[in-house]
Amino acid sequence: MVTRVIVGLCLLPLCFDLLRGAAGNKDREYNRNAFPKDFIFGASTSAYQVEGAALEDGRKPSIYDTFAHRSRNDTRNPDVACDQYHKYKEDVQLMVETGLDAYRFSISWSRLIPNGRGPVNPKGLRYYNNLINELISHGIEPHVTLTHTDTPQVLEDEYGSFLNPKIIEDFISYVDVCFREFGDRVRYWTTFNEANIFVIGGYDVGITPPSRCSSPFGFNCTRGNSTTEPYIVTHRILLAHAYAARLYKEKYQPKQLGFIGINLLTFHFSPLTDTLEDMAAAKRCYDFLIGWFMHPLTYGDYPEIMKKNGGSKIPVFTKNESELVKGSFDFIGINYYYIMGVRDNSMSLTTVQRDLYADMAAQWIDLDTVAPPEEFIYPIEPWGLERVLEHYKEVYQNPPIFIHENGQVASYTTSINDPFRVEYLHDYIGILLNAVRNGSNTKGYFVWSLLDVYELLFDFDYTFGLYYVDYNDPNLTRRPKLSQKWYSQFLKGKNTNHGYKNESSGDATTLDDLRYRAS
Ligand SMILES: *[C@@H]1O[C@H](CO)[C@@H](O)[C@H](O)[C@H]1NC(C)=O
Ligand SMILES: *[C@@H]1O[C@H](CO)[C@@H](O)[C@H](O)[C@H]1NC(C)=O
Ligand SMILES: *[C@@H]1O[C@H](CO)[C@@H](O)[C@H](O)[C@H]1NC(C)=O
Ligand SMILES: *[C@@H]1O[C@H](CO)[C@@H](O)[C@H](O)[C@H]1NC(C)=O
Ligand SMILES: *[C@@H]1O[C@H](CO)[C@@H](O)[C@H](O)[C@H]1NC(C)=O
Ligand SMILES: *[C@@H]1O[C@H](CO)[C@@H](O)[C@H](O)[C@H]1NC(C)=O
Ligand SMILES: *[C@@H]1O[C@H](CO)[C@@H](O)[C@H](O)[C@H]1NC(C)=O
Repeated sequence: MVTRVIVGLCLLPLCFDLLRGAAGNKDREYNRNAFPKDFIFGASTSAYQVEGAALEDGRKPSIYDTFAHRSRNDTRNPDVACDQYHKYKEDVQLMVETGLDAYRFSISWSRLIPNGRGPVNPKGLRYYNNLINELISHGIEPHVTLTHTDTPQVLEDEYGSFLNPKIIEDFISYVDVCFREFGDRVRYWTTFNEANIFVIGGYDVGITPPSRCSSPFGFNCTRGNSTTEPYIVTHRILLAHAYAARLYKEKYQPKQLGFIGINLLTFHFSPLTDTLEDMAAAKRCYDFLIGWFMHPLTYGDYPEIMKKNGGSKIPVFTKNESELVKGSFDFIGINYYYIMGVRDNSMSLTTVQRDLYADMAAQWIDLDTVAPPEEFIYPIEPWGLERVLEHYKEVYQNPPIFIHENGQVASYTTSINDPFRVEYLHDYIGILLNAVRNGSNTKGYFVWSLLDVYELLFDFDYTFGLYYVDYNDPNLTRRPKLSQKWYSQFLKGKNTNHGYKNESSGDATTLDDLRYRAS
């Protein structure tokens, strides 16, 4: 996952929207049988973040590898990561132990097709076949992401990957291999992870791969153009996605009966004050972060406000492209973590040279809390997720949704003792139940992440795992956290609440109980 795209300050501990939602659902008791029968629960990872074996068996680097190899002072090695490449059987056992219905992972393009295009690497093919077969034989449904911030470095070097139309042909050849080789067993395909953040992080602020930006918009820019590239790259990603979806629907879906979608990171944007200016700014944030993709995907064109503020920088869809993109998905994947505060910044429209944020004319204020002794965890404000699902329902015709990622960050040093993560998961899954009951078309939920993984922005310092991975042990031993115990009991049908709030509520899993079992 990626968050904190713009590093803001927590200036106002409570903003307008937070006050409105402050009641929360802390003492709510529920169990998984309250969800629809076919609703699925799982956990997520991505290729570079778990696999390791980065240069083994013919794999070549991706832009994620390059990014991770910048100067670091750490003995924990992202090229080894959790070594799932060698430990996938052990990890599938952990999924069984937890009771997951599904596992969301990604395929490494440069493991499967090391040169980005051309010959398939038989050892890469064998690895993903093994993993998929191991999952299926244990009754766990694979949900596969095709790119997770890891375009082959060779294509970046050769022609600038998404800055060049050639990427579409290479991407389509790659996904064709995946559908052909794995599609008899994989029914859920996601083309791009956090497509919107990939673009903002990688091409506007430059803090994520491929680290492109221009002054004064990004950080430490050496190449790129924050003014134009984000819009160009998004346009290309939308087309690449839509061609992939067309290929799948025409050539594979009739026989394989699967589904294809795209994933976006979604904040709830909350105005910092109840002034009309801040409220309008929050709406613009929804349009610029989510509408940027969802409006073309639903209606065939960018939101009006983007075209107005972005002017000639906003690429134009031809009639055919518009038709191609519109409706080119079976589901939308959403990664959700927390609420983003918003302040109006209409002044930015007076500048001639503008990036996406300046066109959006809004400032994002990160409301992360600091909570000793955990140092840094996300605030527990689940109603943000409810608002977001309501937004997709009202504005984008209530598409089928998978929550592909949701979870609680904390210092790696908190190890297995994570009651704050239990609280987070309890409250977010609880609010999700509210949203589903109120008509949201959400079909499933995945915790980020199954294991403590190498994080794009946090390295190994802050992690999200249900399982702790001991990076000081050469065996990379996994140990279940309190949150794994909680999730597992929830998945096995137990009633759940926070426990410490109400000791007398029947067979509820209490936190003390869990603490005892985890130790
Ligand atoms: C690297 O980290 C170690 C341990 O934290 C520290 O002692 C050392 O000074 C650091 N080296 C550099 C070059 O920052
Ligand atoms: C930019 O570079 C400086 C100096 O090398 C470094 O301290 C800072 O962390 C970098 N910022 C980002 C966002 O990478
Ligand atoms: C970005 O591209 C635009 C349009 O070509 C150009 O006007 C602008 O000067 C470029 N900015 C940088 C930093 O190169
Ligand atoms: C647009 O689509 C129509 C109908 O599918 C097709 O005949 C035409 O060749 C396409 N035009 C372009 C420029 O691709
Ligand atoms: C529930 O759905 C209705 C109708 O779509 C909507 O008006 C209402 O705001 C929703 N409630 C919540 C809490 O999202
Ligand atoms: C690592 O694994 C090996 C082989 O399973 C075992 O013999 C060894 O005791 C393990 N080491 C630790 C520190 O767990
Ligand atoms: C605790 O739970 C019990 C059983 O569900 C309920 O009757 C009682 O009102 C709850 N107490 C509080 C303080 O919420």
